[in-house]
Parts: sequence; C-alpha cells; structure tokens
Amino acid sequence: MDFEDKVVLITGAAGGIGHAATKAFAEQGATLVLVDLSLSALEKIAADLGLPENRLLLVAADVRSESEVEGYVAGATTRFGRIDVFFNNAGVEGKTGALVDTDAETVDTILDVNVKGSFFGIKHVLSTMITQRSGAIVNTSSMAGLIGFPALGVYTASKHAVIGLTRVAALEAADSGVRVNAVCPGPVNTRMMRGIENGLSADNPEAAKSQFADSTAIKRYAEPEEIANVVLFLASDKASYVTGSIFTADGGMTGM
Ligand SMILES: NC(=O)c1ccc[n+]([C@@H]2O[C@H](COP(=O)([O-])OP(=O)(O)OC[C@H]3O[C@@H](n4cnc5c(N)ncnc54)[C@H](O)[C@@H]3O)[C@@H](O)[C@H]2O)c1
Repeated sequence: MDFEDKVVLITGAAGGIGHAATKAFAEQGATLVLVDLSLSALEKIAADLGLPENRLLLVAADVRSESEVEGYVAGATTRFGRIDVFFNNAGVEGKTGALVDTDAETVDTILDVNVKGSFFGIKHVLSTMITQRSGAIVNTSSMAGLIGFPALGVYTASKHAVIGLTRVAALEAADSGVRVNAVCPGPVNTRMMRGIENGLSADNPEAAKSQFADSTAIKRYAEPEEIANVVLFLASDKASYVTGSIFTADGGMTGM
C-alpha cells in the first residue's frame, strides 16, 4: 500500500487509533494533515514522525463546528491542492449509564462529536473529492454501530448513525470515483476504553476489561496499529472495488 504523493487528512489524530494511523500512513510516504482539539498534542505526535515540513500540516479544530471543519479542509487544499484520503475518526465515548439515567447534556456531547462532526467532515471533504473526481473516505464507526451495548446507548446510536452516513455518502459519491467505507473496531487498547471501563466499573475496571476481551473470539483487545492496518487497506488503491462497506475489525465478536 503506497501513499507516496497522497494527501491524507486524519481527525482525532492525537488519540490512540488516530496516532497509529498517522504513523502507518507516514511510513507509506503520505503527506499528512493532522486535526485534533489541541495543537500541542499534535505537535508531540509530529515530533516523533520526523516528517519534513513540506509533508505535514497540523490544524487545531473542533469537529463539532462546521466553520472549523471548513477551516481544516481549506487548510489542506490551500497548502497541498487536494485531499486523497480522509480518515474521519475523531470521537468521544461520553458518560456511561442506562438510557433511563442519561441526561440531555450527555446526548448532545456524544451526538455533536460523533454524528455532527463526522457529517461535517464528510460534507466538506466529499465536496473537494467530488470536484477532483477521486478520493477515499474511511469513517470510524464501531461494533457499537452494529450491535447494542448496554450502558452505552447514545454512543451506540451515534455509531449506528455513522454507518448510515457512510452508506449514503458511498452512493452519492460513486459516480465521481470516490469511495466511502466505515471501519468497525471491537475493543481497542486506547484512552477511550480506559474511560469506558472506569465508567462501567469504577471499583474494578479490570473486570470490565476482561468482560470486553472475553466478548471477542480471540479473547483480547486490539492494538491501535491493528485497526490502522485495516484503515490503510480501505484507503488504498488495493480496495478499488470496496465502497459502502462496513468493515469489522472486532476479533470475531460478531461471529460469536
Ligand atoms: N478504542 C476503542 O475501543 C474503539 C472501538 C471502536 C471505535 N472507536 C472509535 O475510534 C475513534 C478513535 O478513538 P480512540 O480509541 O483512538 O480514542 P481516543 O480518545 O484515544 O482518541 C479520540 C481523539 O478524538 C479527539 N477528539 C474528541 N473530540 C473532538 C472534537 N470535538 N474535535 C476534534 N477532535 C476531537 C480527541 O482529542 C482524541 O485525540 C473514535 O471515533 C472512537 O469512537 C474506538
């Protein structure tokens, strides 16, 4: 999978999966536009990448804001002239709890980032890709986009929504030679799962972790690099016939 001379835009780039994808794309020769809330977090990641200045742009942006999304898209196209790959990945887990205990603020927080943020990204990047008549988008959904997870009701709804957006975007973009897919990871060893484990079982987060691991066929969490590998495949020309697909990387969870 060769990304030499490809411009790859990644949101949530300072997080676990985003960082792993950033490293993997960089190793394959990509020029990177990295987006996250904090510029200093992005600068830390950039320091390890060792990319020359002409292959890297860092943008602090909040994906909940349409104007900030327009800003990172404009930043990428002004600097590099195109966007070949968009890994639409920023997300939050929000507060855990049964639906009957979920407050309106939690609903807003999760839907604003995971649904509106993903939507704004698709809208503005797709517009660029349709004009250039090429490109690949990979949206991060989740196993929670495919099945129900008690105590993660709004997160589950938000990730189902990402699948809906993926399917429609794939259909609307197909004529233009743009592919749109979603990746659905199972539990991955990142800060997000530490947040969920603590939310579900503050006294014994290790117990929640074991339960998640046991819910997969291969009885362990993924490492972020294992999800990044799937993202690179979906973004690459090797996946030229793959669009509108909902690609699970779940350690066999849905096969059980
Ligand atoms: N970790 C898992 O087990 C798992 C499983 C399935 C899906 N996912 C999804 O993978 C994606 C990445 O998650 P992760 O595990 O790397 O978590 P993470 O918390 O390590 O990373 C998420 C990143 O998104 C950024 N972000 C959050 N809100 C933002 C906003 N409003 N604007 C811009 N950036 C924002 C955060 O700053 C962070 O760097 C998320 O969409 C998550 O829902 C994670």
